[in-house]
Amino acid sequence: MTSEFHTHERDTAPAVASPLRLPSGITLPNRLVKAAMEEQLAGRGGHPDDRLVTLYRTWDRGGVGMMLTGHVMVDRSAVAQPANIILDATSDLAPFREWAAAAETSSFWMQINHPGRVVRRDTGSRALAPSTVPVDAGRFSTLFPTPVPMTASDIEDTVERFAVTAELAEQAGFAGVEIHAAHGYLLAQFLSPLVNKRTDQWGGGLRNRARLLLDVVAAVRGRVRPGFGIAVKLNSADFQRGGFDLDDAHHVIEWLGDSVDFVELSGGSVESLATAGHPADGRTLEREAYFLKLAGQLVADSSVPLMLTGGIRRAQVAEEVIARGFSLVGVATALAQQPDGPLGWLAGEDGEVTAPCSALRTKSLRAAAIQASITLRLHDLSRGRSGRTLAPVAALVVDQYRRSRAIRRHRQERSA
Ligand SMILES: Cc1cc2nc3c(=O)[nH]c(=O)nc-3n(C[C@H](O)[C@H](O)[C@H](O)COP(=O)(O)O)c2cc1C
Repeated sequence: MTSEFHTHERDTAPAVASPLRLPSGITLPNRLVKAAMEEQLAGRGGHPDDRLVTLYRTWDRGGVGMMLTGHVMVDRSAVAQPANIILDATSDLAPFREWAAAAETSSFWMQINHPGRVVRRDTGSRALAPSTVPVDAGRFSTLFPTPVPMTASDIEDTVERFAVTAELAEQAGFAGVEIHAAHGYLLAQFLSPLVNKRTDQWGGGLRNRARLLLDVVAAVRGRVRPGFGIAVKLNSADFQRGGFDLDDAHHVIEWLGDSVDFVELSGGSVESLATAGHPADGRTLEREAYFLKLAGQLVADSSVPLMLTGGIRRAQVAEEVIARGFSLVGVATALAQQPDGPLGWLAGEDGEVTAPCSALRTKSLRAAAIQASITLRLHDLSRGRSGRTLAPVAALVVDQYRRSRAIRRHRQERSA
């Protein structure tokens, strides 16, 4: 055990096992949250089916106190990937009800998102953004079309879409929604001074750049019942020179204030890949929960409960995240690897989970290979299988084949 870890008496219950009452009145049975992972498992029309029910039932039985879905698209003309789940006014709610019912013990929330300019050309999506600044994803940049700056009516329409999706999520039986304003998607694009070059009320100073996010939160609040949960996922920093930074995050959290149940802190984007390729090669707290040092600076002043996500693979690190003042611990990769890991963590076992890693030199390729390997595991789990452990490069090949089939189906559906 390294000296930077707080020690806990063996006979005291782990801090992650304590319940948490959120401002909306929802009580979570413990502090472990299955963080959002895009499943790419939508059936026809962007609807969920049995595979997602199986996947989330598995996580629910694995002990987490809360589950967040992978990002669900609010606009079917703008999808991040071809098999993304879409929930809009034209969706059939019955399969969403079945999906929501997969949770028996955990609180099940839907993450809702608009990808903005981060849409792949081959999806035929409209690349809307605050300004015409294209995505700079190195050798992958050409995959993304040049974005179209949003008009005032595009902005109004988008706010309304978030509200409609949240309202439908509530009707389907989800306990809350998490609004995705991290990782370089539309709401993060507005927050970033590098992407948002507008000179109207949605651009310029931070207050203006945060307007879209705050309007979305207010519109959602206005549309759902008071006990329905609302959270925001926000970057603690974009990790780009001149981009959204810690100080900005501090202000945005303050403005979100009591209109949200919690803020989940993450970091990076498709341009900076801050969540990718963090081999836990040094077992020190900061290398493992890699946003802890940065995001930890937001804890003292925040009146909003905070959740930290990124690199958490074992109980001792999760405990330390709570010890540093975070209310919730977000876990993604480790739950794809071992969906019942939390049962051990809650029982006081360290239960370290091994994450996939790759020796590929190019960071973007390495990130894509690891992402593919995790996606493949989600797909195996969704079919009731225990999950293959393919080398990330092999997983990338399998995933490319899967994606090309999904693209074909997506195009057929769009043209029908
Ligand atoms: C396959 C995969 C899909 C992801 N999809 C989403 C998503 O839909 N929404 C989101 O906010 N984050 C998404 N993430 C990021 C995770 O929620 C999390 O922030 C990140 O993986 C770091 O946490 P971890 O180290 O526990 O995996 C995804 C991560 C992976 C690996």
